[in-house]
Amino acid sequence: MSTSSLINRAISVLRLNDTGVFTKPGPHQYPHQWNWDSALIALGLSHFDLPRAQTEIRALLTGQWQDGMVPSVVYHSVPSDYFPNPAFWQIENSVNAPSVPTTGITQPPLLATVVRMLHDRHSIAGFVQEVYPALLRWHRWLHTDRDVDGSALACIIHPWESGTDDSPRWLHLFERIQPEALPEFQRGDTRHVAATERPNRTDYERFIYLIDVFRKLNYAASELLAHSPFLAQDILFNAILFRADEDLHTLAVSLQQPTDEIDGWLQKVRMNFDARFWNENAGLYYDYDARTGKTIPVNTASTFLPLFAGLPSEMQARRLIEEHLLNEAEYAPAGDVHHWVTTTSRAEPTWEPRRYWRGPAWIIMNWFILKGLRRYGYNETAELIRQDTLGLMEREGFREYYDPRDGSGCGSTDFSWSAALTLELSSSSS
Ligand code: GLC
Repeated sequence: MSTSSLINRAISVLRLNDTGVFTKPGPHQYPHQWNWDSALIALGLSHFDLPRAQTEIRALLTGQWQDGMVPSVVYHSVPSDYFPNPAFWQIENSVNAPSVPTTGITQPPLLATVVRMLHDRHSIAGFVQEVYPALLRWHRWLHTDRDVDGSALACIIHPWESGTDDSPRWLHLFERIQPEALPEFQRGDTRHVAATERPNRTDYERFIYLIDVFRKLNYAASELLAHSPFLAQDILFNAILFRADEDLHTLAVSLQQPTDEIDGWLQKVRMNFDARFWNENAGLYYDYDARTGKTIPVNTASTFLPLFAGLPSEMQARRLIEEHLLNEAEYAPAGDVHHWVTTTSRAEPTWEPRRYWRGPAWIIMNWFILKGLRRYGYNETAELIRQDTLGLMEREGFREYYDPRDGSGCGSTDFSWSAALTLELSSSSS
């Protein structure tokens, strides 16, 4: 297939999922607006319809809470069979809830990075001025209402906030969460996708149990930090936040806005990141269980996200890449694994090649990793991953994730961010 036909197919998928105001991540499985999906979708849209990309971002920000949180999902009152639905979240219990229906949790803050990329490429000062205050408020909320120890590192209170729902890095935390009673619910996610490719039942019950805890606490920030049974400092989330703070800083400078507050976050996070996450013995970053104060020694592809943020030293980068990413027992294709990049090290006993975030290759992770590799001069490996990623999409279509052994597509079909990142990865500006 020619590059131009792949590009045209990617555009058709974004058009297919476009409701006019927001773009669904997947036509059946994900019928509302998701936070970090939207950021990537806007990036994809900007390659052929910049005004529509801006609409996407505006639509997401209509869901911003009064305390600054930008929620993981904005429902936009579109009827659907999706669970959990707005009635389940009961966000009206919170004094900070917005007027549109949303979830009561957030997602990795990628948006400021995308706005900066769009501004660099298209000089959209008016739009930047319009959305900057909302971005600043969101980052402020993350660095204050989600700061449990004065480190300026953000905590997440639910695995869904990590964007990598059933990643094995959360299993240790789940072991100590024993739901006493579960509210009544009916899963919707296994209606359109095989159950073997979705989170297993025990994980899912904990996801639901946590929401029940939060709604009983009326989503009050201090109560959540004090009582959420799940409280983690996530490498991926904090690396994305650090890079987004830097991008927010650039936007502030371009608008001639003060930067002291952002400087403060950057300085603190830079100071605390290694102490909290870096493990010198393993040569890896590990997530942190902020409830028990323990490191979570699980090797997943999130460990490479600091490369995307430019946080590791040259030496740390070398260890991450040469000892782990290029290691055929962990991430590099070898044996019956032919594709980049498994989301969990294959040396972890919990690795599962077709189950959601337990191990398949996800295009979003490939994108983060290849951008990180380029930052550290590993251009050849970055190019290998780029080619492999585009090849998967050409062969299998824009799927949600891929079995890294044979490249077969899994999860949702016509998945928006896979299409959006195809446009990005095919472009010379990427
Ligand atoms: C799943 C993913 C999450 C994504 C959402 C919509 O929940 O884990 O990262 O944002 O689907 O695509």
